[in-house]
Amino acid sequence: MNLIFSKARVLVVEDEKIIAKDIESTLKRIGHESAGSVARGEDAIIAAEKEKPDMVLMDITLKGEMDGIEAAKIINDRFNIPIVYITAHQDEDTIEKTKGTNPYGYITKPLDDRDLSTAINSAMYRRDVELKLKDAEEKYFRLSENAPDMIFSQDLNTRVYNYVNISALKLTGYTPKDFYDKPGLLEEIVDPEWKEQYHFTLKMIRNSNTTIPFEYMIINKNGSKIWINQRSVVLRNDKDQPVSIEAILTDVTERKNYEQKLEETTLKLRALSNYQQKIREEERLYISREIHDQLGQDLTVLKMDLAMLGKNAAKKTASEPNDRLKIFVDELKKITAYIDDIINKVRKIATELRPDILDKLGLREAIEWHAGEFEKRSSIKCITRLSEEEFILNPEKSISVFRIFQETLTNTARHSGADEVIIELSIIHGWMILSIHDNGKGITPAEIEKGTSLGILGMKERVLILGGIWSISGEKNKGTTVQIKVPLS
Ligand SMILES: Nc1ncnc2c1ncn2[C@@H]1O[C@H](COP(=O)(O)OP(=O)(O)O)[C@@H](O)[C@H]1O
Ligand SMILES: [Mg+2]
Repeated sequence: MNLIFSKARVLVVEDEKIIAKDIESTLKRIGHESAGSVARGEDAIIAAEKEKPDMVLMDITLKGEMDGIEAAKIINDRFNIPIVYITAHQDEDTIEKTKGTNPYGYITKPLDDRDLSTAINSAMYRRDVELKLKDAEEKYFRLSENAPDMIFSQDLNTRVYNYVNISALKLTGYTPKDFYDKPGLLEEIVDPEWKEQYHFTLKMIRNSNTTIPFEYMIINKNGSKIWINQRSVVLRNDKDQPVSIEAILTDVTERKNYEQKLEETTLKLRALSNYQQKIREEERLYISREIHDQLGQDLTVLKMDLAMLGKNAAKKTASEPNDRLKIFVDELKKITAYIDDIINKVRKIATELRPDILDKLGLREAIEWHAGEFEKRSSIKCITRLSEEEFILNPEKSISVFRIFQETLTNTARHSGADEVIIELSIIHGWMILSIHDNGKGITPAEIEKGTSLGILGMKERVLILGGIWSISGEKNKGTTVQIKVPLS
């Protein structure tokens, strides 16, 4: 249908024959078509049904039983055909009476070509717009009725639901009728544990223009708990006051359950990894002590015995020179030096397994010591700026931080290409902050995220267990910074 002009078939209802004929010929002249003319209201109804005209030109005062307004009402109700009234004079009362019949326009006698044309065209235009609107409404209604999500519209002041689709039943166990009958039903079925959060979020949505989705739990009519994801829009009046809310509710129970399971699994894995780290440290401590105390002592005893043997042999060669004994004494000296070397190696292994400096003197000293060792081994300069402030960190936290520190320096040596590392330790508001900055090539975001970065993952997890925060960042060719923040014991 053309919005500007469309040819209309018009039924003329007019009891004065000459005027009726005149109108019919005018219709033709201005490009429309007559669907015939009748003189009585009753006939108009019959003709409307039979001819199905695009519109009816209706005289208000008719001679028969039924006047134009009554006939129009029936035609409008039964066949939904637009009516334009023909009035003899602009009688306010009469026009008032036509209001209930959904009039599409008025035209006064005697009819003027231009007036008639305008009246018909605008009536047809209005009809076209109305049909399109109806079509769109039906389309949205269908969409919303068939949506798997619950959709509703609610008055924010009275809590009355203006619209609830059928999916409400699936989600909540309540029918749209239950919602229409009980304003605020949704609020009532929100899980008690979620009520406060629900009202808080709703208030936020009302007061600001946010449309953020939010999630909460409801209790279905059958008693089961359902996770809901709600997206809403608040409609406001011209004074910007919230008037109503339109919302879409999705059942996200399945996803939430998976999320919960995933979280539980993550926590279990974390606990397991923590447990294994602990065992590993305990074993290291045990082996380190065994090596240091047992093996170390045995070697020292052996060294002392050899020394005694050497002393006695030396005495003997002094009193009665003996070449073979002299060779023996020289050999003994060599063996003693060798044992000294072994003792040093054993100590080093024990220290590397578990630096006892950590247990004896604390984290700061252990960091200082390890930095020194690292510098010697790697020839990367280590600058340490460690706060003198006293702090207490329990053994578990100390060893964890120390291991992360070691791992960080190992990464620096392996990946950074740096020639200098700055190590800073500070105590701020009950937190110990250790930052390690190298001047190498800088780690990239991709390297941080990649799944195979187990060293990085391990560090992150260890700090999480301590209730701390771990971060790494890199700047191309400027270096990499690792920061560890741990709450003090
Ligand atoms: N200090 C650093 N400078 C530059 N790149 C680094 C640094 N530390 C780590 N990386 C990058 O991050 C990756 C992941 O480190 P990590 O998880 O410890 O694994 P790995 O050391 O076994 O490769 C490294 O392979 C490296 O590419
Ligand atoms: Mg590594």
